[in-house]
Amino acid sequence: MKHVLGLKCVLCGTEYGIDEVEYVCPKHGNEGILDVVYDYAYIRKHMSRITLARNHDYSIRRYADVLPIARPGLLPPLQIGWTPLYYAERLCRQLGLTNLYIKDDGRNPTASFKDRASAIGIVKAREKGRNIITAASTGNAASSLSGLAASVGITTYIFVPERAPQAKVAQLLVFGSHVVMVRGTYDQAFDLCLEASAAYGWYSRNTAYNPYLSEGKKTASLEICEQLGWNVPDKIFVSVGDGCIIGGLWKGLRDLHALGLIDRLPQLIGVQAEGSAVLVKAWQEGTETITPIVPNTIADSISVGIPRDAIKALRAVRESGGQFVAVSDEEILDAMRVLARGAGVFGEPAGVTGFAGLRHLLQQGKVKPDERIVVLVTGNGLKDVQSAIQATGKPYIIEPSMSALRELMAHLGQ
Ligand SMILES: Cc1ncc(COP(=O)(O)O)c(C=O)c1O
Ligand SMILES: [Zn+2]
Repeated sequence: MKHVLGLKCVLCGTEYGIDEVEYVCPKHGNEGILDVVYDYAYIRKHMSRITLARNHDYSIRRYADVLPIARPGLLPPLQIGWTPLYYAERLCRQLGLTNLYIKDDGRNPTASFKDRASAIGIVKAREKGRNIITAASTGNAASSLSGLAASVGITTYIFVPERAPQAKVAQLLVFGSHVVMVRGTYDQAFDLCLEASAAYGWYSRNTAYNPYLSEGKKTASLEICEQLGWNVPDKIFVSVGDGCIIGGLWKGLRDLHALGLIDRLPQLIGVQAEGSAVLVKAWQEGTETITPIVPNTIADSISVGIPRDAIKALRAVRESGGQFVAVSDEEILDAMRVLARGAGVFGEPAGVTGFAGLRHLLQQGKVKPDERIVVLVTGNGLKDVQSAIQATGKPYIIEPSMSALRELMAHLGQ
């Protein structure tokens, strides 16, 4: 891999060769998260706006030049990435904006953003000749790993908290994973999974701990800039749990900048649920030290008390001049309705939390009407139908007759 220089610890800056360490900086245990370092001078020779314009592979594979993989042919044979970026005309009118775009990552193969990361995890496992992968997840990273592993015939052991929504668990089972439901929180499942991976020698896809996952996540920002004709957005809104997505988005933007593909950088707005706003607090206090909490929010995918990619996430927001914001569960449910009814995009609670953050900042007057804004929807609404029903209420139930219908219509004033 001529384009990859090595891995660098976010805490101490020590650089390692790509084959020298597998997951984290040995000096800091599980907190020594590593970042992939690229040779941009080399990549520039292969990747430009022109080569991309000529590339007709509309999936994350189109960015192989800037991914930490030696053999792109080992990517799962599924349509991962190049999800639609919609200009949200009706929402613009409703919110008083002129340039709002919605990127629907619920359109990935297993219906969440996490497919971008799992794809890279799968390639790394295959490159290393490992045929069992494990992950702990609030649900989406797991179902994504599970589906993508099924597409290439890799065995998976998955750890999820007992409260994971049924649809996500159904995905795991249907894709044939060994599913271990942990009586406890996601944070407890995460630690158990790390121990299991060490004990049984399984390849770990745990968020942040595996340094390659944020590289897959960064493909969303590459797509956003390319889909906007290289007109860089002013702000990108995204929901945050462990912080791996937002850290990955920032990495992608910095890659593009270093390669001369964009000339300025957007602000990243990280949105958390009030019941798991650990990073909001750290950002407000200006520290990189995290105070763990026991999380409690309807947005199960971001219900995280110990964000594993805290440093990358906090730096993404600080360096981009963005901000963190917390929204209530009511705002999340409201965002689900408004986004679905105003744009036809149905997101799960964590999927629409970025949109809730946009509405929150609009109310505070912190977004200018003409700013170019992208909201990332990170998971499909069918992942958690219970929450959708909670957000919307019940249908009318009538007898199968016109008289019953007329009665209802009269009741509705029609
Ligand atoms: C739908 C959805 N949105 C947002 C997130 C948050 O991503 P991260 O934990 O990397 O911050 C997740 C993570 O599971 C997710 O599944
Ligand atoms: Zn270190």
